[in-house]
Amino acid sequence: MDFNALTREMGTEETPQLVKHLLALGMEDRRLRFGHVLSDDGIRKYVAEIDMSRDVVFVVTDAELDIIGAAHLARRADHAELGISVHSDRKGRGIGTALLERCTARVRNWGVRVLFMNCLVENATMMHLARKQGLKIAVSGTDAEAFVRLPRGDLSSLAAETVAEHLGLFDYALKSSWLALQGRHPALAMSPKPRPDTGASG
Ligand SMILES: CC(C)(COP(=O)(O)OP(=O)(O)OC[C@H]1O[C@@H](n2cnc3c(N)ncnc32)[C@H](O)[C@@H]1OP(=O)(O)O)[C@@H](O)C(=O)NCCC(=O)NCCS
Repeated sequence: MDFNALTREMGTEETPQLVKHLLALGMEDRRLRFGHVLSDDGIRKYVAEIDMSRDVVFVVTDAELDIIGAAHLARRADHAELGISVHSDRKGRGIGTALLERCTARVRNWGVRVLFMNCLVENATMMHLARKQGLKIAVSGTDAEAFVRLPRGDLSSLAAETVAEHLGLFDYALKSSWLALQGRHPALAMSPKPRPDTGASG
């Protein structure tokens, strides 16, 4: 486990940060992430439509709690769909690996065995990550679409998820406290401003 890439489940209150992260992706990364170059409005709509009661979004944040890597795992009846992205300045530091590990554990623990990713067949980096994690890449009849077949969930996938989430929450608590101490926590920016003191008492 890479302690520089601790993953945790994103809360619904963090959706503005997710939009910010996705809007910062370059055009080629947007294409690889979504299968086509999604417009800014398309990204806002996509995030607004994520069903957080069914799906899950895992994130890695920096010291300011800005999202630098995100993975949206959509749950379907017999498969899951993964969309994963890492900020271009943060690539090559293990964030994608950590998010993929986190997602495969969750999919296995859902009892699902097939994981689709956009552009997998042409995405050399994702192919590399999947192979490195020992995942079996299957190609559908036309060769146009690849997906990953996962082993059944077991004690190790349950343990992997539990440990990763605890570490991710610890990381979040630490960064939150540090930012709050300095009056810079993102949640503070959304709180109403204190009313000016009128001097009236009683
Ligand atoms: C794919 C992506 C998520 C990987 O994130 P990341 O944080 O850079 O990944 P990691 O740092 O964990 O690992 C990158 C690995 O890929 C390797 N790699 C980089 N470019 C590569 C390439 N063109 N071909 C093969 N391997 C490549 C790196 O050497 C590294 O391997 P290593 O760990 O064995 O040294 C990121 O590049 C990204 O956001 N891409 C755009 C969106 C996308 O493609 N999403 C996936 C489809 S949903």
